[in-house]
Amino acid sequence: MIKNKKFVGIILSILISAFGGFILMQNVSAEPKMTVYKSATCGCCNKWIKHMEDSGFQVNAIDVLDVNLVKQQYGLSYEHASCHTAVVDGYVIEGHVPALDVKRLLSEKPDVLGLSVPGMPVGSPGMEMGERVDSYSVIAIGKDGNAQVFNQY
Ligand code: CU
Ligand code: CU
Repeated sequence: MIKNKKFVGIILSILISAFGGFILMQNVSAEPKMTVYKSATCGCCNKWIKHMEDSGFQVNAIDVLDVNLVKQQYGLSYEHASCHTAVVDGYVIEGHVPALDVKRLLSEKPDVLGLSVPGMPVGSPGMEMGERVDSYSVIAIGKDGNAQVFNQY
């Protein structure tokens, strides 16, 4: 009986460590999966999606008839809104947020709703127009709706 328990214990610990290794491998190998809600006619949205894919994200793009409805669903206020709304790892990413900032968000995992680049500043990823680059901020939107500067360009 005691021998059996020990045996079960060993098997269990092997299973647990194998499973743990599996999860670890998944984390290392799998690129972050992202869903993007956009309107079918949005060209800059597609350019931003390309930017995210080039940075290693797996993007599932979904065309919706009313992007504002999606923003409402995810608790985004009008002042923080842009063209498309993305969801990754439970975070909302609104507009032309650079991939590096999304990656920083996913590694730091702050307790916020997500990130936004309100409006569509020229020069942000997907909004390139020649040499022109407007200065803009990436903001972190708190769950209370308050925004803090996350990064500046
Ligand atoms: Cu846009
Ligand atoms: Cu967009």
